[in-house]
Amino acid sequence: MRSIILPIAEDLHIHLRDGELLKFVTPLVKAGGAGRVLVMPNLKPYIENTEQALNYKQQLQLAEPDLEYLMTLYLNPNLTVTEIKKAAENGIIGIKSYPRGVTTNSENGLENYEIYYPIFAEMEKQNLVLNIHGEMPSNEAQNICIMNAEEHFLPNLERIHHNFPKLRIVLEHITSKAAVELIKKLGSTVAATITAHHLELTVDDWAGQNHNYCKPVAKYPVDRQALREVIKQGNSKFFLGSDSAPHLKSLKENACACAGVFSSSHLMAYLAEIFDKLNCLEYLENFSSRFGQDFYQLKPLNKYIKLINESNQIPSSFKVKSLSDDLIPFWAGKNINWKVEV
Ligand code: DOR
Ligand code: ZN
Repeated sequence: MRSIILPIAEDLHIHLRDGELLKFVTPLVKAGGAGRVLVMPNLKPYIENTEQALNYKQQLQLAEPDLEYLMTLYLNPNLTVTEIKKAAENGIIGIKSYPRGVTTNSENGLENYEIYYPIFAEMEKQNLVLNIHGEMPSNEAQNICIMNAEEHFLPNLERIHHNFPKLRIVLEHITSKAAVELIKKLGSTVAATITAHHLELTVDDWAGQNHNYCKPVAKYPVDRQALREVIKQGNSKFFLGSDSAPHLKSLKENACACAGVFSSSHLMAYLAEIFDKLNCLEYLENFSSRFGQDFYQLKPLNKYIKLINESNQIPSSFKVKSLSDDLIPFWAGKNINWKVEV
């Protein structure tokens, strides 16, 4: 039987939620093959300062002590230069920016980054990473919708990089050929994460299939091809961030479905399956463990997982008893050819 030993994965973009859902999903991350995770701050209310992030980290450690948590803050108007210093002193790794003004003031989305320039300058000084959700809000007059929102966002990334060339920036969960091309072109301080599901899905797979619906949405076949090609080129600017984003079944199987694909529980099995199909398994280790580690200047974890080439049925659902609901994983019920041994 074929098997591969790999360093435990670095999942450099994950949503672990709070409350009962946190307690349910966090222990599943290890089973999926990740040992260190960059935790997104978009709770309700969002994580806006160091104190809240450290508090959140404690809750995560209680739920699963055997996982390393890299914390982020939500880019928000209450952030000050002093708070950025404090964040850096306390081991916060990044600041996550979400598209602003999606419901109100959407035409100002672009200008809004400039009000954060003093913050970006201090982040650059303190070696914090700017994590960007790169989508423009939909805008009828400008013909912007979810299919081209990422491409329309890219000039913002170029502008921030131009003004802060030493600031490390990660364009998160990229989905488009245009984004791949731009990241390749920009300096070495700019990188991108790619999810497992965006290597697999196109628009045909999420339209009418809520469990594959996430933001940014999967795009055209030519875009997926660009993501696959850059993986096969072993380009170190592109690394794993699963964007695993659990929402309960009742909120997914709904006329207005929440965006998010839950992939933590079987993450490395999905990736082995996808890389194997693309005939590039030899590139998985760098993508899932090394490139991200290098970009984030992290020490190796010196832990390993085993990927076994063996039939593996993804559960059709997880029962979340504490919430009287279910959680549906990516590729629910599908039989794949790889499993993870932690
Ligand atoms: O699909 C998504 N889900 N995209 C995001 O940007 C947020 C995430 C979530 O938190 O559910
Ligand atoms: Zn995310």
